[in-house]
Amino acid sequence: MATSSDYRLGEYDFPRGWFMIGESAEASSTPSAIRYFGQDLVLYRGQSGQPYVVEAYCPHMGAHLAKNTTSYIVRDGEQVEGESIRCPFHGWRYGPDGQCNHIPYSDFVPKAAKLKSFPVIERAGILWLWHDPEGLEPDFDLPDFGGHWDQPGWVHWKVDYMGDLDIHPIEVVDNMADYGHFVPIHGAKDFVYFANEFKDHVVHQYYAAGHRTLTLNPEDVLTLDTWYAGPSILQSEMEGAFNSFIMITHTPIEDGKIRVWHGLMVQVNDGSAPITDDLRAAALEYQEGSRLAFAQDVEIWQNKRACLNPLVVPNDGPYGKVRLWYKQFYNPRDQAPDAHKRTNGLYVTLDKRKSSAAA
Ligand code: FES
Ligand SMILES: [Fe+2]
Repeated sequence: MATSSDYRLGEYDFPRGWFMIGESAEASSTPSAIRYFGQDLVLYRGQSGQPYVVEAYCPHMGAHLAKNTTSYIVRDGEQVEGESIRCPFHGWRYGPDGQCNHIPYSDFVPKAAKLKSFPVIERAGILWLWHDPEGLEPDFDLPDFGGHWDQPGWVHWKVDYMGDLDIHPIEVVDNMADYGHFVPIHGAKDFVYFANEFKDHVVHQYYAAGHRTLTLNPEDVLTLDTWYAGPSILQSEMEGAFNSFIMITHTPIEDGKIRVWHGLMVQVNDGSAPITDDLRAAALEYQEGSRLAFAQDVEIWQNKRACLNPLVVPNDGPYGKVRLWYKQFYNPRDQAPDAHKRTNGLYVTLDKRKSSAAA
């Protein structure tokens, strides 16, 4: 398992950014144990409905806040009170900011009785956590997924869990620059255009090519704008048989190990007619096609060895630029502006458009 330091990414083992930690249904008033970023964490939903994540171990004497079934605090359903969570061992209670706000048998509450807590946003049926090695507030927004989640005529994704992979996330992000894998892995043909654009914390992949199966007519060109906003959330607007929106996301569990998910929202009508069961089924079938295409990348990742330095040829995409861009999330945020200066810009790997049509 190659780690962040093996790839020389920077000061931190885990990146700064927004990360999926589960689906909405996984947060409830019964706290649950989760593990990401090499840390044991606890997820719970406050009485307002807001989900929270705090570190798992109580600063009093180290009990796990979620792994208990027999304490009377658990049996009596007193684990979550308002927005706070109560430890099953001696009943100390912590607010969503992590600060202890009640000890059942003491008026004195030490300042040090504080759990690490993380910002959490629920969006598009998914729980997203802000992870920052510096412990600061988010310096970029969680994506809005094209706004399609709330748009009439769009069928929501059903999140596909793609597996826990023994691979560093950098090798998944490499895909942004990976011009050469589209023909063998994804069945692309007759490439017209392939480029990457780096804009601060965002990297785009602009793609135009034919496709063996995804286009309606053999001569049609599939045009994709795919981008990472931050280190872990890929989005793609796709025009094909249906308009659709891809989400691929991965979260470090340990340094060098990730959990990966996929989803596809599909537009089945313009919103003026109801979404029938048949349309919903067609959308889910379309999502399944997208999942299978992504599973082709996943199969490679599941079985490859780590690639610390790609052996590149001139017509490969700009792996080096993507990796340089990716490093910004593993280093203090005050270094990000310099990192942006080094990577921002457009890198064209291939352009076969007629010069009149070229932008
Ligand atoms: S260990 Fe949590 S209250 Fe004592
Ligand atoms: Fe791919």
